Amino acid sequence: MTVATDRSEHDVTDTALAEAGARRIGWASREMPVLSQIRKRFAKERPLRGVRIGACLHVTAETANLAIVLRDGGASVALCAASEPQITMDDGADLVTELHTKRRELLADVRGGTEETTTGVTRLRAMAAEGVLAYPVVAVNDAMTKHLFDNRYGTGQSAVDGILRATNLLLAGKIAVVAGYGWVGRGIASRLRGMGAIVLVCEVDPLRALEGAMDGFEVTSIVAAAARGDLFVTATGNVNVIGKDAIAKLKDGAIVANAGHFNDEIDLKTLAAQATGQCRLRPFVEEYTLRDGRRVVVLGEGRLVNLAAAEGHPPAVMDMSFANQALSVEFLVKSAGTLKPQVYGVPRELDEEIARQKLAAMGMKIDTMTDEQTTYSRSWKAGT
Ligand code: NAD
Ligand code: ADE
Repeated sequence: MTVATDRSEHDVTDTALAEAGARRIGWASREMPVLSQIRKRFAKERPLRGVRIGACLHVTAETANLAIVLRDGGASVALCAASEPQITMDDGADLVTELHTKRRELLADVRGGTEETTTGVTRLRAMAAEGVLAYPVVAVNDAMTKHLFDNRYGTGQSAVDGILRATNLLLAGKIAVVAGYGWVGRGIASRLRGMGAIVLVCEVDPLRALEGAMDGFEVTSIVAAAARGDLFVTATGNVNVIGKDAIAKLKDGAIVANAGHFNDEIDLKTLAAQATGQCRLRPFVEEYTLRDGRRVVVLGEGRLVNLAAAEGHPPAVMDMSFANQALSVEFLVKSAGTLKPQVYGVPRELDEEIARQKLAAMGMKIDTMTDEQTTYSRSWKAGT
């Protein structure tokens, strides 16, 4: 089940793994019914015929299923490549950045792009605000059927999965600190609590902090939490969230992990500068011994712990994220010439259609308003 038409066009360490890989891709596809429906339609209608897509995504079984859908829609797909794309597909704006900085000669050919994650969308909005974004990009992350489920339930489960696979830690009774109470942080905090951890939340936004407090978590500053936590998970999209001051307070043996996009949420430079020794205890488990004798354990080198130490989100949730990707590419191709170099949301009707298809695949039914209810809900006169 290859995606590149020519098998020589790859940079793969061991092609002997192809058959086992195909089985993994097939296994994941069983949990991706919405994407499977899109694949059937794309194979019939070929809406992406002749389009070249460069997709800079985490290469997982779920991503392979997306690539297959795009291929069946008529596109040629290069994963993690900047080989003359017409449509870019990013997770963190890497490809967009590469094209806008080092490969500007390729920009003229690009019709549009899509962006998978919060941090990427933040960067694209900054580029659009500065007037430097050269082509329209659809913020897939902003679709409800993406961030409500992928960021929250996907990362909630897979980040805990990564931490447990790496450490085999018993969470029950441990003090876990979650920095950032956005979509990702909420998911992680609720899953850690579900496994018996006592969860503290750190935030900079008063509304989100209040939400955390009313969800039943203790909200405190990172430096105060540092002195108490056994396990830390950052999910902010910000830099040095576990910084110098927090590092100074960490308990001996504290475990720190990151679920945010970049590996700069934990100040690894300070840790390294203060360390007298560093030791790999297990795969993805690196212990720093500091000058004062305290040991700090970093998981997955501070990279996305769910992808470094586990398999990323389960396919059932990537089903919706990647359905958004596939339909957003189709939207870009169909809207050629009509969009400005701005950040666009996923059209509401696509978001709702994905939700409907997912519900149907899950065997769930929803109600439809009666005419009376529709009139009532639109009226300002009815009621008391
Ligand atoms: P979000 O904007 O909803 O939430 C981020 C939260 O962090 C905000 O509430 C913000 O106030 C808070 N924050 C910022 N700086 C902080 C600081 N110094 N201390 C404490 N809190 C701080 O974003 P999100 O959708 O939750 O995404 C968070 C990060 O996770 C992003 O980098 C995103 O790209 C990434 N992400 C990772 C995965 C994954 O697979 N691991 C999946 C989706 C998103
Ligand atoms: N991001 C988080 N989980 C992922 C997955 N399973 N595949 C691709 N990107 C991801």
